[in-house]
Amino acid sequence: MEYNFKNNYNQRIDQEFNNVIWQERLKKGINFNLPEEKNILVRWMKVGDVSEVYNIERETFPSPWTRDGFLYRLNERDYNVSLVVPVERNLVAYAVSYIVYDELHFSNLAVKMNYRRYKIGEILLSTSMQLGKEKNCRWVHLEVRRNNKSAIQLYQKFGFKIVGVRKDYYKEENEDALLMSKLI
Ligand SMILES: CC(C)(COP(=O)(O)OP(=O)(O)OC[C@H]1O[C@@H](n2cnc3c(N)ncnc32)[C@H](O)[C@@H]1OP(=O)(O)O)[C@@H](O)C(=O)NCCC(=O)NCCS
Repeated sequence: MEYNFKNNYNQRIDQEFNNVIWQERLKKGINFNLPEEKNILVRWMKVGDVSEVYNIERETFPSPWTRDGFLYRLNERDYNVSLVVPVERNLVAYAVSYIVYDELHFSNLAVKMNYRRYKIGEILLSTSMQLGKEKNCRWVHLEVRRNNKSAIQLYQKFGFKIVGVRKDYYKEENEDALLMSKLI
């Protein structure tokens, strides 16, 4: 197996990844089984999702991306990997990455408070990495706030290593960014 996965949804990811219509199927959404018999659907982000994504972004981060930030990524179709997780009529999580040569830049990830700790973050990360890999990426890079323990733990679980620090990168919070990378 590609990643060190143990759960049902991970087997599901492996099955889907072996499937040539995987990227096409993400238009409608792919269902993953989660612990406690929950299921989540992952699909591509669309322009129509941006307002809702932006609302989660504002609830989550002290210095949120703008709506245009998300639209800009969506417009760069060939380099964009933006995913959402809808539950009934609402979005509960999203991830945004973009491709530069053979690098996937995993640049945004958020899960709504009530939906955390159900492995949604893991699924979005692993799905994004697999999509990057299919587009010939060899590396995944990201930045994370030094004090963001949960995110750092998530990335370390997937084998990311700290490769650098940007001092005071998050100006408003006066916080450093850790640069983390992983070969895929
Ligand atoms: C970080 C975040 C995306 C994790 O999403 P999630 O769906 O709750 O995480 P998962 O359930 O997939 O957890 C996967 C792993 O991440 C780590 N993790 C997640 N939440 C954690 C927490 N509160 N404390 C410690 N580790 C945590 C653990 O290693 C966990 O694996 P485990 O369940 O085997 O212990 C979510 O907490 C979030 O949206 N935070 C605010 C936004 C943010 O920080 N984004 C990242 C910016 S770089």
